[in-house]
Amino acid sequence: MGPPDAILGVTEAFKRDTDPRKMNLGVGAYRTDEGKPYVLNAVRKAEQSLLAQNLDKEYLPITGLAKFTSAASELAYGAESPALSRLAITQSISGTGALRIGGAFLEKFYKTQPTIYLPTPSWGNHAAIFRDCGMKVGKYTYFDPSTNGLNLSGMLEDLKALPKGSAVLLHACAHNPTGQWAQIQQVVEEREHLAFFDMAYQGFASGDADRDAAALRTFVSSGKVPVVLSQSFAKNMGLYGERVGTFSVVGADAAEKDRVLSQIKILVRPMYSNPPINGARIAAEVLTNQELRQEWLGEVKYMADRIIGMRKQLRGRLEELGSKKPWNHITDQIGMFCYTGLKPEQVDRLAQEFHVYLTRDGRVSMAGISSGNVNYLAESIHAVTKD
Ligand SMILES: Cc1ncc(COP(=O)(O)O)c(C=O)c1O
Repeated sequence: MGPPDAILGVTEAFKRDTDPRKMNLGVGAYRTDEGKPYVLNAVRKAEQSLLAQNLDKEYLPITGLAKFTSAASELAYGAESPALSRLAITQSISGTGALRIGGAFLEKFYKTQPTIYLPTPSWGNHAAIFRDCGMKVGKYTYFDPSTNGLNLSGMLEDLKALPKGSAVLLHACAHNPTGQWAQIQQVVEEREHLAFFDMAYQGFASGDADRDAAALRTFVSSGKVPVVLSQSFAKNMGLYGERVGTFSVVGADAAEKDRVLSQIKILVRPMYSNPPINGARIAAEVLTNQELRQEWLGEVKYMADRIIGMRKQLRGRLEELGSKKPWNHITDQIGMFCYTGLKPEQVDRLAQEFHVYLTRDGRVSMAGISSGNVNYLAESIHAVTKD
């Protein structure tokens, strides 16, 4: 018997709890202010339009639905990006599948550097994904537990100290140091590292999809280091279980793009032959129908704003309760999650005494908080942190 997954195990414990006050702040899935899963209106409309078209269910090509991958690449890199003509892109089984293809690709073709370096902490699944692709997994400094913020100098020092040309995983947004990208990019370029961007939250951090893609786009337009990208539509389009994403490699020129794509096809064919069709059709419809696209961008902003509002309320309530601890990091951090700085034993108390479930590293999914339970959460956190 193996151990339960660190994140999904939290959901299992939550489901077993019968207390009506229970809260699941483990899994990164958006909830409405009523605490319910949210299917975006733009997605519902796209589904209706697809249903009316009575489409067949034939296999997609190995690299997926071209209408989807082309619209997805424009969303990520920018519609005017000159890199689009040299971009090797494939549809993937959401962000996880994209990372897996990327890991397999690097393991096979980036042989001089068999290690990928992840920020500490990173998404809990990253290390396992790359390890199972046969790569070694290294770390660089990211989070500073003393401030619950970014340890920029530690991060830069670590990136400088890595062997030249290392593969470095960077969260494109919602984990990351808005404003400090210039310094990070400078070090990555000086050291000629390969930048592996993981963009699972485009639009979710700031409410603006272009703004959240800024770091990726600046690296690409600078053109000094190789860039690869995993892209997920799970969160920003609410397509979690549809498994919609892409993996792409910015080629040096169109010929390299063709060679890379041919190798990606060779990797994907024995993995799953070709990707699922339904979610890609939905995302393509949302991205290419101008009316739906505008509605979707509005909904992304709405979700991001609700999360930002919850940050303010949670911090404010903790301060009102007279907490002596600093809680500025709740509003300083961006994106779907907050690293609260809670210790594992405090997290255990939250679950046992207050029916509030989160991962033991103190990470809270802000999207699981609503105006109905934010006070209860603040009181619970205050109770376990005041001694
Ligand atoms: C940083 C990061 N990358 C990638 C993913 C992949 O998610 P999915 O496979 O559902 O697209 C997640 C999901 O939580 C994530 O947080």
